Order: sequence, then C-alpha cells, then structure tokens
Amino acid sequence: MHKVPFLATSIGSMALKISVIGTGYLGATHAACMSTLGFEVIGIDVDPEKVASLAAGRIPFYEPGLEELLQKELKSGRLTFTTDFSASADCDVHFICVGTPQVKDGLAADMTYVNAALDALAPVIKTGSLVVGKSTVPVGTAARLRERLLAINPNSDLAWNPEFLREGFAVDDTLNPNRLVVGVTNSRAEEILREVYAKNLAADTPWVVADLPTSELVKVAANSFLATKISFINAMAEICEAAGGDVTVLAKAIGYDPRIGSRFLQAGIGFGGGCLPKDIRAFMARAEELGAKQALEFLREIDSINLRARTRVIDLVRGELGEDLSGKKIAVLGAAFKPDSDDVRDSPALDISVQIQAAGAHVTIHDPKASSNAQKRFPVLNFEETIDECVAGAELVLHLTEWKIYREIDPTLLIKKVKNPIMIDGRNALDRDKWRSAGWKFKALGRSDI
Ligand code: UGA
Repeated sequence: MHKVPFLATSIGSMALKISVIGTGYLGATHAACMSTLGFEVIGIDVDPEKVASLAAGRIPFYEPGLEELLQKELKSGRLTFTTDFSASADCDVHFICVGTPQVKDGLAADMTYVNAALDALAPVIKTGSLVVGKSTVPVGTAARLRERLLAINPNSDLAWNPEFLREGFAVDDTLNPNRLVVGVTNSRAEEILREVYAKNLAADTPWVVADLPTSELVKVAANSFLATKISFINAMAEICEAAGGDVTVLAKAIGYDPRIGSRFLQAGIGFGGGCLPKDIRAFMARAEELGAKQALEFLREIDSINLRARTRVIDLVRGELGEDLSGKKIAVLGAAFKPDSDDVRDSPALDISVQIQAAGAHVTIHDPKASSNAQKRFPVLNFEETIDECVAGAELVLHLTEWKIYREIDPTLLIKKVKNPIMIDGRNALDRDKWRSAGWKFKALGRSDI
C-alpha cells in the first residue's frame, strides 16, 4: 500500500458529513440509507426535476420501502438535495453514484457522467476528503480518476466501493449487504470507510479490502457470474425442449447441490434491466482493450443465449397461432424487466411485446407498475389498467414478468374472458397443473408437454 498521500484530518470522533453525487436508483437509495445510519447527507444531481421531486419526498421510480424511508429522513433534517456541487464543500466523504449506460455505438460503458461528476467535485471538495466511487465502471477507471483528482486537489483521496443492490430490494441490500468491498490505496481511506460502515461491521458483515482494480472487477465479475447462471439454465431449457425434458425439475435437482445452489436458475425469457446486459458487454469491451479478449469470449455466448430466449418464446406463440401473427389478439402480462420494479430498460417482456406487435399482432399489455414507463418508451403499444381488460377476447396470453398478482390469478375465472384459453408462461412461475385443470392449454419454455 502507498503512504497516506494527503493531510490527515481528524475523523474518528466527529460525525462524518456525506455527499452523494447522482440521485438515480443507486444514489437516492444510498443517500436515504446513509441518512438513516445517522450521517448528515447531501444528495447532488444535475437534474433539477429529480432534485425537486426527492426534496419533496417523492422518488421518481418504484422501489418498495424507499419513499417511506426518504420522507422519514427528510423529516429528520439530516438529508437534503441540491443541484449545487459547491454544497459538497464541507463534506468528508463523497459517493459517486451516477450511471454508466452502454454507449450508443458499441458495447463499452459511457463514462461521461462519472467523469463529469469527478470534474465537478475535484475543485470544490475540502482538504482531506475522500471520494468513493460506487458506479459500475470498466477496470482501470478508479486509478485514472484518482490521478485526475489528485492533480486538481492533491490533499484528497479516492477509493472504490462497488454496490451490489438489487432493484426491488434496494433498501435492504444497502442497509444489510451480504458483503462490503472497498478498493483503497492506503489505510486512511479504509479507516474512513470503516467509519461509514461501522454498523455493518458491528453486525459482522464480511469486509473485503482490495486494490482499486480488483474492487472494480468484483462488481462486473459478480454480474457476469449471475448472467452466466441464468443463461446456463436457459441453455438447459433449450436442450430439455429438444429432448422432451423439464427444465424446472432439472433446475430443482441440480440446485440441491450446495456447490451449485438453486438461486438464479429460473429458466425463462432471460435477464434484462439496466445492469446485467450492459455490464457483461462493457466487460467484454474492456477485456479486449486490455488484450484479454479471449478470456471473456464466453460472455458473447451468454448474451446470445439470453437474446435467443426472447425469440424462442415468440416461436412458441407462432406454434400456437400460426406463422402469420397479423391481426391476432395477444395479451401480455408484465412489462417490467423483473417484478417489484417499474424499470423497463432492456426488458425482455417489453422487447417480446414490441416484436410481436411488429409482426402484425394486436398486443395489449398489463403491468402493475411499469405501464407508464413502457408507454413512454413505446407509445404504439396498448396498455390496460386491469388484467381482465388486458386479456378480454385474447387468442393467447403471455406471462412475461412474474409479479405475485399473476400467480394469484384464478384461471377458472380468467378463462371466461379470453377467446382461446392458451397460456404461455415465459417465466416458469405459474402452477401448470392448476391452469391445465381449469381448462387452459399451458406451454412454457424448457418444459415438455406431458
Ligand atoms: C443485478 C444484480 O443482481 C445486483 O447484485 C447488482 O447490484 C445489480 O444488477 C447492479 O449491477 O446494479 P438487478 O438488475 O436489480 O440486479 O436484477 P436481478 O435480480 O439480478 O435480475 C436481473 C434479470 O435476471 C431480471 O430480468 C430477472 O428477471 C432475470 N433472472 C433472474 C432470470 O431470468 N432468472 C433468474 O433465475 C434470476
């Protein structure tokens, strides 16, 4: 480890003041959670609308439990939001939580927002303060940003602390993470982060200290592993279909082996969202830059298997309704990329709906939370408020996001609304026997028809 490169200010005894740069999904959650841990927190974002909404106690997306926490923390007086970067001047720790979306013309991550956040912070932060990156970035970014920071503000420091929160569980994942990873170049940075996470450390949360590149890699390696697990089971689903097997039974059986584990083995239309797809692509792009392209070639196949699952479910639809889908009335249950979220970024459900509609079908979609986001993205799609309205007169129903309310549907009642009782379960989450005994023809990815 390097020698401490900046003036040691007295931390330890006084309560740290924290700034959080970027108040999207990750930043808004992190800011509210840091406040509930007792720190004074300033959330900073360049988007005045977002800031106004958060300051008024409203989160501009759906995340269970977050709005209640935000309102409680605003009331405590510890949490404030602003567009003014100079408000971070007297903070001790600055978390960078801005997005790193996929670039428009390639696989790599767009670093514009991370770079801009660092450039805005560097000239205003006080001596001895610590910038902590949480955004998912290509390996090497932290070292580059640290150099850039020290060139402008030589008595500050930069560490990396990747975030592993899942949408739908963001608050709990932030307050009770299954591990904390800190990438640091000196012991003082670790000391400050130990103070930030003192409550987690007291609760014995595993604490992994790494160098900067390893800490960046931990995040993309974890997401790549999860994506691989999902595509593995979806590849098995393809084999089960070809061989007349049942992927749900296969997944259950292999999952009992603790070395494999049963989670993330839910076969279906695959992974989407703002993280897994773009993270594996950015990881491949970075490996190529590093001259290690071959090491991650398998992720290309993981991506293809994932996208193929969307095509396979459309093939099932064609198998039922015929090659020509024009004029066919198809009802879709679910638009979000996963349940308990209104996020439709790279949503397999929405992608399939768009493709079916483009093939001429008349598609109606229901989603308890994501309809408005989906409508904004694809104004040509039709959305219905209720499940009954969505399936009215349908020739086929597709179940594409496994919301709990869809598992609670009574198929004996729903059958009265549709024209043809055909259900295709794209998530392997519905009770096949229940639907069949209610009179439905029931199909699912990776399951034989017996
Ligand atoms: C993912 C990771 O799980 C988090 O640990 C990480 O912090 C986050 O990305 C991130 O990088 O910020 P998230 O995108 O919220 O979290 O969603 P997941 O729960 O991982 O689900 C991703 C996708 O995989 C969803 O579309 C889901 O439907 C699909 N999936 C998941 C399956 O198709 N099968 C499964 O068995 C599990």
